[in-house]
Amino acid sequence: MEPLSRYDPIIDDPSAFHDACARPLPSVVRVNEIKATPDSVRRAFEEAGVEFEPVGWHDGLFRLGGDESPGNSWPFVHGWVYGQEEVSAVPALALDPEPGERVLDCCAAPGSKTTQLAARMDDRGLLVGNDNNLGRLSALRSNAERCGVSNLVVTRQDARNLSLKYFDDEPFDRTLVDVPCSCEGTIRKNPDAIENWSMDHVEGIAGVQKGILDRSIEITRPGGTVVYSTCTFAPEENEAVLQHAIEQYDCRLVEYDLPLEGVPGLTEWDGETFDESMRNAKRIYPHHNDTGGFFCAKLEVGQ
Ligand SMILES: C[S@@+](CC[C@H](N)C(=O)[O-])C[C@H]1O[C@@H](n2cnc3c(N)ncnc32)[C@H](O)[C@@H]1O
Repeated sequence: MEPLSRYDPIIDDPSAFHDACARPLPSVVRVNEIKATPDSVRRAFEEAGVEFEPVGWHDGLFRLGGDESPGNSWPFVHGWVYGQEEVSAVPALALDPEPGERVLDCCAAPGSKTTQLAARMDDRGLLVGNDNNLGRLSALRSNAERCGVSNLVVTRQDARNLSLKYFDDEPFDRTLVDVPCSCEGTIRKNPDAIENWSMDHVEGIAGVQKGILDRSIEITRPGGTVVYSTCTFAPEENEAVLQHAIEQYDCRLVEYDLPLEGVPGLTEWDGETFDESMRNAKRIYPHHNDTGGFFCAKLEVGQ
């Protein structure tokens, strides 16, 4: 069986879902509000002859025309825009950091969400961008520099045992947990994404995800916010990981506004039941908004 067919029973229109997964993904850029505004980017694209159209649900995202590539224009080179799949802009909106806060992005490279968080923080406060992959960390650093981010500290730690000793032993106000996953939802960008899909891999990576989410909850202050996201559909990597967290820790799933179409998280899958609050998580399917696939949940740590 083709791996994505295992989701047919939970999807409203399986044939539209499979058709969307087979179509290439539109190229999208996010305006970097540290250096530019949606209006200045619009003018720059018009002057440079770049074809683009606005994305209805977010005024800082533009879809580029046919053959345009995000990296081919001067607004990209100067850090006015960042090439970012539109659905990947959701977790930073859900985390909603304030200028001046202490924010951790524990799996940060190559930095699409880190640079978005820095802009939402008005480049103020402490933003830690952590990843365990050195090559990807250099991409994070160069992307942050291009975007003019100055409130970022980059660290290389295994997020499952991330130490606070470099940060005055103080917990974070908000933590983004954008974990490694089986990447099923990226199939439109990378048709090979699920070539080596196996249940063993899904179960193995779910163990890593649980470890990363556990540690993220431990190092976020009481009353603080943790956002958990993946670009995959597998409930084993989404609801089951959150179920593990709410059983182990004093934390709860809370509602958040999603400005594009999504469906609630699952309360059962393959004979397993999950807490009713799982409905506060959002599943985003490619055929609903012509995007990649995504999962995003917001947790509040107990007081
Ligand atoms: C989904 S990607 C992150 C994408 C990134 N948030 C962005 O928006 O550009 C997951 C990242 O987790 C990193 N990673 C995998 N295992 C990790 C671990 N144990 N600790 C920290 N980072 C890890 C990978 O190197 C990868 O960069």
